[in-house]
This record gives sequence, C-alpha cells and structure tokens, in this order.
Amino acid sequence: MKRLSANDIRKMWLDFFKSKNHYFLEPVSLVPVEDPSLLWINSGVATLKPYFDGRLNPPSPRLTNSQKSIRTNDIENVGVTARHQTMFEMLGNFSIGDYFKKEAIEFAWELLTSKEWFDIDKNLLYITVFEEDKDAYDIWTKQIGVSSDHIFKGTRKTNFWDVGQGPCGPNTEIFFDRGQKWDPNNLGTKLLVDDIENDRYIEIWNIVFSQFNNDGNNNYTELPRKNIDTGAGFERLVSIFQDTPTNFETDLFLPIINKVETLCDFKYSIENYFCETIEQTKINTAFKVIADHIRAVVFAISDGVFPGNKDRGYIIRRLIRRSSVYGRKLGINNAFLYQLVDIVAEVMKEFYPYIEEKILTIKAIVENEEKRFLQTLSKGYEHLEMIINKEKIVSAKNALLLFESFGYPVELTVEIANDKNIEVDVEGFNNLLEQAKELARSSRKNDKAWNKQSVILTSLDVKSEFVGYELEDCKTTINFMFIDDKQVEEISNNIVFLTLEKTPFYAEKGGQASDIGTLVDEFDNKHNVLDVQVGPNNQHIHKVQVNGTLKVGTNVIAKINSEKRFYTMKNHSGTHILQSAIREVLDKSALQSGSYNNEKGLRLDISYNRLPSQEEVDKIHTVIEKAIKQQIPGEIIYCTLDQALNEHDALAIFTDKYGEKVRVVKFGSFSCELCGGTHVKNTKDIEDLLITNIDSKGSGVYRYHAVTSHKEVAKVLNEQFLKQKAEIRPTIDKFNEFKKHVENIEIENIIKEIISMPVTKRNLAILKIKVSDLKNKFKLYQKSVEDILIAKKLSKYKDIIPEQKEGINYIDLNIEDLEMKEMKALSDYLQNQHNNLILKLINNEFKVYIVSVGQSITSTHSAINIFKNTTNFKVKGGGNEAFAQGKIID
Ligand code: ALA
Repeated sequence: MKRLSANDIRKMWLDFFKSKNHYFLEPVSLVPVEDPSLLWINSGVATLKPYFDGRLNPPSPRLTNSQKSIRTNDIENVGVTARHQTMFEMLGNFSIGDYFKKEAIEFAWELLTSKEWFDIDKNLLYITVFEEDKDAYDIWTKQIGVSSDHIFKGTRKTNFWDVGQGPCGPNTEIFFDRGQKWDPNNLGTKLLVDDIENDRYIEIWNIVFSQFNNDGNNNYTELPRKNIDTGAGFERLVSIFQDTPTNFETDLFLPIINKVETLCDFKYSIENYFCETIEQTKINTAFKVIADHIRAVVFAISDGVFPGNKDRGYIIRRLIRRSSVYGRKLGINNAFLYQLVDIVAEVMKEFYPYIEEKILTIKAIVENEEKRFLQTLSKGYEHLEMIINKEKIVSAKNALLLFESFGYPVELTVEIANDKNIEVDVEGFNNLLEQAKELARSSRKNDKAWNKQSVILTSLDVKSEFVGYELEDCKTTINFMFIDDKQVEEISNNIVFLTLEKTPFYAEKGGQASDIGTLVDEFDNKHNVLDVQVGPNNQHIHKVQVNGTLKVGTNVIAKINSEKRFYTMKNHSGTHILQSAIREVLDKSALQSGSYNNEKGLRLDISYNRLPSQEEVDKIHTVIEKAIKQQIPGEIIYCTLDQALNEHDALAIFTDKYGEKVRVVKFGSFSCELCGGTHVKNTKDIEDLLITNIDSKGSGVYRYHAVTSHKEVAKVLNEQFLKQKAEIRPTIDKFNEFKKHVENIEIENIIKEIISMPVTKRNLAILKIKVSDLKNKFKLYQKSVEDILIAKKLSKYKDIIPEQKEGINYIDLNIEDLEMKEMKALSDYLQNQHNNLILKLINNEFKVYIVSVGQSITSTHSAINIFKNTTNFKVKGGGNEAFAQGKIID
C-alpha cells in the first residue's frame, strides 16, 4: 500500500478527475448561499444543487471538488467513535447529464486500483449495490470483474440516497478491508452484510446514481437529465493510507493533538486502541474532541460565522464550549483554544491558504469567546451548587437551564453532582433537549431544499443572446414560448414565458433585480415584460403580460425601462464601493454574504462580529465620498478565475456559480469583484450614497441598507428629518405650554438646534441622538413642572382644619378645580398632616370621588366601605381599607 500524506491524497484525487476532463471547482464557503434549507454545506453535492436541479448550467458537465463540510447532528459522538467529525472534507466527482453508471464505476475502479494512482490491492475492496439495481451489479461483476464474494446487495435503507425533495437514486458503496487485526471477533464479511458498525471494512466511496426526482412526498419520477453524485470521506481515506486506528492519528489531526499535549500534563496514546484502559480512553476522547472542534471553529469563523446565540453562531459557540470543558478534563483551566489556531492553519494551508490571512481575527474571536465562557462557567457553578444544596436530584429542567443559560454540558453537571452524591435526571434532560431541537427543526421545515427540474427548460436550446450591457433596446424575434411547462405557439391576452433571439433585458442574478420594460410588435401593441429570470441553459426567460396576440416568430422591439436600469446600476456599483469601504474601515475579514439591489436602493449583508460604531459609519461615508469624488473609471475584464483572483485580487464570494471565464468589475484599485451585473461607467455616476439603516440578521451577519444618487439621498434625508421632527412635535407643544410656568434653557436650546439643523448625511445621526436626548430631558422636566403646578394648586386647601369626633378627624371637601391625579396628591398631603383622618373628596364637575382612611385606624374604619355606603349619590369604583376611588354616577 502506498503511504500518502493527506495533501497527496487530495491532490491525486483532483488530478485524476482533471485528467478525465473534469472541471475543478474551488471549495466554497461553509455558509450555504441562497439555500435556507441547509444550516451548513454538508456534502460536496450541497454546493451544486442549482446544477443538479436544473436551475443553472454548470461550467462543464463533469466536475470535481474537495469540499469542506460540517455536520452537527451527532456532536456527542465526536471524539467517542473512530470516524465521526464535525468538519470534514468530501472528495467528489459529478456528472451533470453526461456519463452515468458505467463510467462512474470505471473511474472509481481505475483511481482506486491503478498503479499510477492509489494502487490499492483489488482483493481488499468490497462493493455494495442496491438490491433492485441490476445494471450496477452487472457492471461490477461482468465488466470490472469483481467476484461474487466481494459484492453484496443492500436494501433501500443502506443503498438508496434520498434526502427528501429533490434528486435521488440508488447508490453503490466501496469498502476497504483493513484486515482481521481490526475485527476482534473475526466476523469477516458478516460485518458488511449485516451493516454492523466496525473498524475493519471502511466505507471509502459513495456513488449515487441520481436518476429520480422525489417531489417531497416520496413520489418518484425519472429525471430528464441523469446525474452522478459521488462522495468520499477524505479523513477516512487518509486514515486508510496511513493505517491509523481512527481518523485522529493521521497527519490531519495528530499535529493539533501534539500541540494540545504541550499545554497539559497528559499524553495521547495511540496504543490505547488495542490495550484499552478506561482512564486513557477518557483522555484520548478529550484530545480528539478538541482537535475536531477547533478545526470546525477555525474554518467557520474564516467563512464569516461568529459565535452567537442562534443557528450557525450557536453551533460554533457550542463547539468552543465543549472543547473548553474537555480542556478542563486535561487540567487546562485557562482559555487555551486560540493557541491551536496557528497549527490548524499550518496543517490546512496547502489547500486553504486564506486561513493564514485571517489568523489574527480568528484568534481574537476564539480567545474572547472562551474567556467569556469561563466566566459564565463559574457563575453556572454557583447556580449548580445552590441546586445541589437545596434539592435531592438535579431535575431535567434544571439540567437544561444549566445547559442553555450557562453552557453546562450535561456530562459536566453529572460529574459535579455525582461528586456530591446527587443524581441528575439525564433521561429527562435528553427528552427536553430533543423537544427543543424538534422545535428548531420544524421552524425550518417549509424551506424548499431543491427546485424541481423543469423538463422544458432543461432541454431548451434556443438562442438567447444578451445584448443589454451595450443596448437598452433592440429589434429581435420571439423564438420560444411556454406556459405551465408546456410549449405554446401563440397566445392572446395572457401571461406567458418567452425567450428572445437577442435580449437587452438583464435577468435577476447576482443580487441584481431584473429589468422590466416592453415588447412592441409590428402592430404597435405594447406587451409588458414583468420579470426576467435565467433558465438552466442560460436563456433569459421573460415573463410577459400579452396585450393582444403574440406568436413564436413575431418580430418585436424589446425595450427596457431605462429609469429602472439607471438607478439599479447606481445601486449595484454602490454595493461594490460600500463593501470596499466597509472592509477598509472595519477589517478585511468583513465579507459579503449576500446582497440585493434594485432601482430603489440596496442591501448588503456583511459577516462581521459586531455593528459598526457611529464614528465608523461616518468614516465609511467619508471613504465612499472620496471614491466618488476621485471619479474612478469602471472597467470590465473577462479572464479566467485564476487570473481574476491572483492578478486582479478580485473578491469572489460565491465561487460555485462561476464558469471557465469570469467577468470582473473593477473601479481602479478601490474595488474589484467578480460580477455579472450592470454597472455605472465611473464612480462619479453613483453621485452619492447614504447608509439608511444597519440591522442584525443574527449569527454575526449585519444588513446594511443604503440608497445612492443625489435625488434619492436627498429624498431619504428629507423624509428622515421630517419624521424625526414630526416625532418631537407633541413634546415641543407641551414644552411651550410648560415653559410659561418654569423655563428650561437647556431644552429650549436642544429644540432650537434640532429645528435649525441643516439636512445633511452627518447630521442625520446627530439628529437622532439629539431627539432621544430631548425626549429623556423633557420627561424629567415634565415631572418636576407638574409637581410644582400641583403644589401651587393644592396650596389653598392646605390649612383646612378637620372636624374632630371621638378621637377621629373628619374632612369632607367639595372641590371643583382639581383632577383625579391632583385629588390623590391632596389626599396624600392631608393624610400626612393629620392623624386618624377620614377624608372624603368630591368633585362634582368631573364626577369623581375619593375616600381615604389614615393607616392607624384602618382596623376600625374602611375606606372602601365608606365609599360604597355613600347615600348622597351612586358611585362606581373600587379600593381597599385605606383608599377608594371611583366615579359619581348620578
Ligand atoms: N451525496 C452523497 C453523500 O453525501 C455522495 O454521501
């Protein structure tokens, strides 16, 4: 067996498929783009969904990749079993409507067994196929020559790849036999046939014959375009070539484990696999958990995911916490995980060089997060001690509380509680956790995983040339029409989808809204183009409201709505310069994770670990204004992806969508991005840009909303100024009333400043601060003025002498000029002045009535009784022994 390093294996895989005309796809971000059904990219094929379901055509029908992926459904098993991983790489080759079963199997066999490539002994390979898949069985046995004792038929459970809605199909799996050394009970191929978890036969490759579409309800139809999807777990392949007991002793993980060894007094033991002791197994598990989790954490953070309380951010937080807890098991009590970032970058840099550039940011985030966790951990410890002192058992609810609020993994709770001879309801905890997870799952259920292939669009081969970079209108011909996936030749007064031989209409793509406009036919009838989308073969599909009749073959003048395009262009170029400015002001690790622009404005989602400060927003505005003032010409360059990335230093975010040739949009040295959108010719054409709002989308993603052009910026500024001023109008009115009684120069000045403030970008933020300052100051002022006014009004009643009878003081007063609030204040005042007082206050004008009884006599006299038993008039209200209030009814 060849002895290969991890980097050799990855390279050999990719080189093999490149030699078979496969197009190499760079690994893409772990954060799925435009796919809300997935939290993480979890396989090679997950990045290729638009190609598989026919929304897009791939750069080549043959593809290969090595894709970083994350799966988190089994975190508890990581470090315990030999091969569970959170972050792993999946090697793959794919055919989109090109080769099928025969070639896929032949390629696999050649790569695995040929001397030139992996050179694995054929006798050590075993195959499983789906029991109903006679074709695959025959290819393996008759063409490849696999003997019948090396191939087994599996069931729907083991040999059919199906993830709900979308493409699916039978698969064939290839296993490698590591020999009897890894099979202590000498069960042989029974392990394979009965699908028993084992370390002898390692599944190295899963080849899926993606030939059906599952409509989401397990109704299967044949796909018009059959595909191949394969996946080989990289780490387990490495473990085979390096003959290690588990994935963790390979050159992917061992350097990380060795680094952890330098931080503690324990050693990882490879021999423990064969001569196991419980103590050493626990120690090994701790090393493995830390080595696995830190890789996932480093990769996720470098893709813009930050520890947080939701979704991806929460997973990263959990992984950091879990590793930190396992660090404590190794006797490491300080924040230490950040010290492992360098070694992860070192191990992975050959294929993922970008990690090195982000090391400082990653370290800072990991250190900060672990330090914060260690603080909550000690708070959680106090809480747990309180529970232990009070209760005989740590209930499921308390265990969940510790887990969710203090980050206490249940094993840690058990460990501490058991030390004090207290039990933990672990089963109840697991049930509650499962319920919580179920809740999270169901809230994501209705998202579509895959779009169904449209038969008509997949096979459509009509011409559709986009001329919209140069022209806003052109003479052209309708060459295809369809409704509900059925071709039509003629249509009257209806909505139809159609393609044009040439089209100036931009189809929605890369975050830019589609053009709208008109098609004018020979009879001068205008048909409205409502929307334009890209078909799988890149045709622009126009959604058109037909006024009259349209036929295939009709000549039309296609004309876009210039005004919409004009403002959309400004906003799209605005998105680019906004991104550059944000990266310049904040940090190069701030990266776009999505954007959208149309004629009204733009929004740009940026992955970063915090909101910018007001000062930073001002700086971003300044940087943009400078770029506009410099009048930087825009340049469009067509080149290879490699040239774009290396020669032009272009920002590429969604690498999965790029073909052989890419389009680069460049504004001097200020901004350079891969982009297919329509752009202004010079930064001066953007005119101006205003960030109107920034809100958090969770998981460390912040959405910047902005508008461009003098016209829109002025409009939005005016609107926002008017809105702020309208909001404080009632406050100003009240102030004008109050200041007759008590002046307040400070408030007077703030109001003057707000009213006379010039409408400018910088002032918008200052205005917002001043408005909130005014509101706060006015609240305090209002309270003090009201107190003064009430005191003035009450002064004439203050010298009243009560009538005395048998040790009780009585005051009955008819008052006309006091409102309820003031009557209560008078009641409080008089009760303070006189002992044993029974007070009745009646206001016939406002029809209100109050009774109060001094606290010292409430045992013998009751305010509510006196209130209810009034005979002079009817009352409605309520109260207690000391105080009652209500309305006089008649
Ligand atoms: N998509 C297949 C898998 O993930 C190859 O196993």
